Amino acid sequence: MPPPDDLILSLREALGLSPGNLALRVHLGEVLLRNGNSADAEKEFRQALSQSPSHEGAKLGLAEAFCLQGKTSAALALLEGWLAQGNPPARAWLWAARANLDDGKVSEAERCYRMAVGKDPALADPALELRLRGGAEGGNPEPALKGPARPQGGETWEIPPDLGALERPALDFSDVGGMEKLKEEIRHKIIHPLEHPEIHRAYGKKIGGGILMYGPPGCGKTYLARATAGQVKAGFMSVGIHEVLNMYLGQSERNLHDVFETARGNAPCVLFFDEVDALAANRSDMRQSAGRQLINQFLSELDGVGSDNEGVLILAATNAPWHLDAAFRRPGRFDRILFVPPPDEPAREAIFRIVLKGKPVADIDYQKLARASEGFSGADIKAAVDGAVEAKLREAIQSGKPSPLATRDLLAAAKSARYSAKEWFATARNYALYSNQGGIYDDILAYLKL
Ligand SMILES: Nc1ncnc2c1ncn2[C@@H]1O[C@H](COP(=O)(O)OP(=O)(O)OP(=O)(O)O)[C@@H](O)[C@H]1O
Ligand SMILES: [Mg+2]
Repeated sequence: MPPPDDLILSLREALGLSPGNLALRVHLGEVLLRNGNSADAEKEFRQALSQSPSHEGAKLGLAEAFCLQGKTSAALALLEGWLAQGNPPARAWLWAARANLDDGKVSEAERCYRMAVGKDPALADPALELRLRGGAEGGNPEPALKGPARPQGGETWEIPPDLGALERPALDFSDVGGMEKLKEEIRHKIIHPLEHPEIHRAYGKKIGGGILMYGPPGCGKTYLARATAGQVKAGFMSVGIHEVLNMYLGQSERNLHDVFETARGNAPCVLFFDEVDALAANRSDMRQSAGRQLINQFLSELDGVGSDNEGVLILAATNAPWHLDAAFRRPGRFDRILFVPPPDEPAREAIFRIVLKGKPVADIDYQKLARASEGFSGADIKAAVDGAVEAKLREAIQSGKPSPLATRDLLAAAKSARYSAKEWFATARNYALYSNQGGIYDDILAYLKL
């Protein structure tokens, strides 16, 4: 085990080679935390979250980094949203207990601590219990967590930092392996009308409507949307429906309208809606009528009611198309609903080439890699390459001799792939077999050869 500073140095070096390697970045953050450098750790975790906003390890690390620096309100802002959403890990409850205690909210801290220990008894922390009891008795407990004094006024920080921020993606269709049918559809339905509005008008075709992509995780839906913007040198706005729902409870409609207005003001612009099924999921819960209103608002924004959507290219994605309202499929809205399957063999080869571009490689047998990665998503391929780079780097640090990546390194890394699409197909299969009204899931059936 090298001394911590060396370790940090070599981790930074590895990240320099593979800046998109999330696992590595989060690991660096954790090492920095253990080394007492929570300010630098905070930077790494933030960066990781900007790449993957729901990364559990990064969120936990950031919460800890905030707490250790005395940024209590930032820690609470981060944790409260997370705890409210579903099923956070036990450690999130533990940090929420600490942050609440630092904030003087003893009973909330106790509740969070009970949740943490209930979920994972190994998290029991006698020092924290002592502080909790001291607080409950009205004493003035010493803060157990060291760090600079809490900033006055408190910094607030939320995930995501900015709903509907405008980006200018640098990638284009040549960075996307495979997906030829989708690219063609996007060219025809979205790019061509944008570049030649006069032809479409001459035929009396209303410009507008969007493409909805669905499929298993990690197969390039978000990536392709971003590349579409780069392809036409347009701006890119990505909006997670969960963000709209969570951040602006009670005024979701207004904010959805603002998102569309911002896109219209920045045309040409790709407006990408992620997790659109959340709109429908919301509808079946207690706030039924509120959900309906939001759907209606969304649909009339799509229709461009009272506004002009010209130059706004609308793409959307979901993992759960079966939760979507049928109204989304009307002409002029998402009249193209396209399945995004895991990449086939030629596409996998192309993705390996794209992901390995710019990395130090020896002679690579791409066909062999493509054959060995049957069932992988694009994200699985990327993870395998990141894993191989990391292993190679460790080897180079030990031996002091860097050597390029070879086919066998990649094959070895591919052995530990996650097959992240597998679970999705188990669910999708049932919908395709038993709720295939109008043949909407024929593509899934064809893919599964059913
Ligand atoms: N066709 C592809 N070509 C190149 N890289 C790809 C491709 N598909 C996926 N990737 C890589 O995998 C990563 C994950 O893909 P992406 O986020 O687009 O998946 P997704 O379909 O949106 O998944 P989810 O449903 O979980 O949101 C991308 O950032 C990219 O690095
Ligand atoms: Mg996505």
